[in-house]
Amino acid sequence: MPRVFIKTYGCQMNERDSEAVAAQLVAKGYTLAPSEETADVVLLNTCSVRDLAEQKALNKMKAIAGVAGKERRSPVLGFMGCMAQSRGQKLIDELPDVDLVLGTQKFHRAAEYLDELLNGARKKIVDVAEEKDSEATIREHLLNGSAKKSVSAFVSIMQGCNQYCTFCIVPYTRGEERSRTIPDIVAECTELVSRGVKEITLLGQIVTSYGKRDIPARDGKSAFVQLLEAVHAIDGLKRIRFTSPHPKGYGDDLIDAYARLPRLCESAHLPVQSGSDRLLKLMHRGYTREKYTGIIKKLRAARPDIGISTDIIVGFPGETEKDFEETLSLAREVEFDQAYIFKYSPRRDTPAAAMPEQVPQRVREERNQVLLQTVNEICAHKYETFVGRQAQILVEGPSRRNSARMTGRTRCNKIVVFDGDERHCGQIMDVKITRAGSFTLYGDAAILNL
Ligand code: 5AD
Repeated sequence: MPRVFIKTYGCQMNERDSEAVAAQLVAKGYTLAPSEETADVVLLNTCSVRDLAEQKALNKMKAIAGVAGKERRSPVLGFMGCMAQSRGQKLIDELPDVDLVLGTQKFHRAAEYLDELLNGARKKIVDVAEEKDSEATIREHLLNGSAKKSVSAFVSIMQGCNQYCTFCIVPYTRGEERSRTIPDIVAECTELVSRGVKEITLLGQIVTSYGKRDIPARDGKSAFVQLLEAVHAIDGLKRIRFTSPHPKGYGDDLIDAYARLPRLCESAHLPVQSGSDRLLKLMHRGYTREKYTGIIKKLRAARPDIGISTDIIVGFPGETEKDFEETLSLAREVEFDQAYIFKYSPRRDTPAAAMPEQVPQRVREERNQVLLQTVNEICAHKYETFVGRQAQILVEGPSRRNSARMTGRTRCNKIVVFDGDERHCGQIMDVKITRAGSFTLYGDAAILNL
């Protein structure tokens, strides 16, 4: 049976899509190869959000094709996901060794297309068409993989984005917002819990817009909050998370859900992008700085221990020193637990790419460094405040860096490494935090869990 190797670039949605493709192929008898060198099929699941991610995948494919050519092997090579969607046939024109280009609404067709390519029925396949109901096809899970995966699972609840932020390529690669139904999602989650999953992260490009068009608000609760309640009611599920939301989706019903639903973890990833109202408007974000900080205040009032992370772009076209200062001051004001900072990267067909006043690369680099230093100092201080305190963790499995140790996550989404063993895997336990490292806490379970 064919051996397949899948490499994933980009976000958790891509991780989830790759897992669903892998599960689909395993069900058809494929085995998963540990690397591209021994694989009969190599699939790169790509990201288009910044140019660097595209270049990485293109270079990787060139290298794979080069090595295979020298060794006189001809594995089936495929691009899937966002870059496949946005470049289509052009990928094969540029890289003639590529056999398959599979768009973001076509992941469920991977097995059928690979069969045709492997048995020679077709030579090349490009499918980047839209497909109705494809949002409900990302459902198979690979729970027999690592122990880690069977503790915590991702569930895709919707696809696409209608926000059209001026910097962002996602609406063009993922299409219009399309949501699965609540019963369909609950059935998938229930099945996962019956197979031992303790924590579920609901995924989508813009989860707070879930079901907006199809599911009317009820008792003042948006479709997304109704979904949270339905998933929360599943017996045996210990923790719920979601990513990524949009600040405009944080109405009082969602804040109230944090206060009411104990299994909803006190953690939120709330991309702010900029601290300048002028830039927020140019970015088409749909909120002001004051609205954003107001949401943070309400969330912290509902759950004082909430962990808040964000995404920030530096060097958006027209960003002045003053705009950048406002982003710095926002970072100081909010004190994020973690902030992912991105240098603006012009994306094809997005309005921002055509704006005059593109910020020179050197300035983007400088601002990136300055902001990184500021947020990292604040984060380090935040992590230090955990030392000496007790935290509840869900143990996910052996630590990646040191397999003799175990790793878990606090409810506020901080990684805790401790001396433990396999029997702790999947357990919710209390640990005492003894030390803080860079974005990692170290804990001692011995005193509290005899
Ligand atoms: N350039 C730089 N960063 C971007 N992001 C999205 N588009 C771009 C772009 N063109 C960032 C945003 C988003 C995160 C996933 O990637 O901060 O929240």
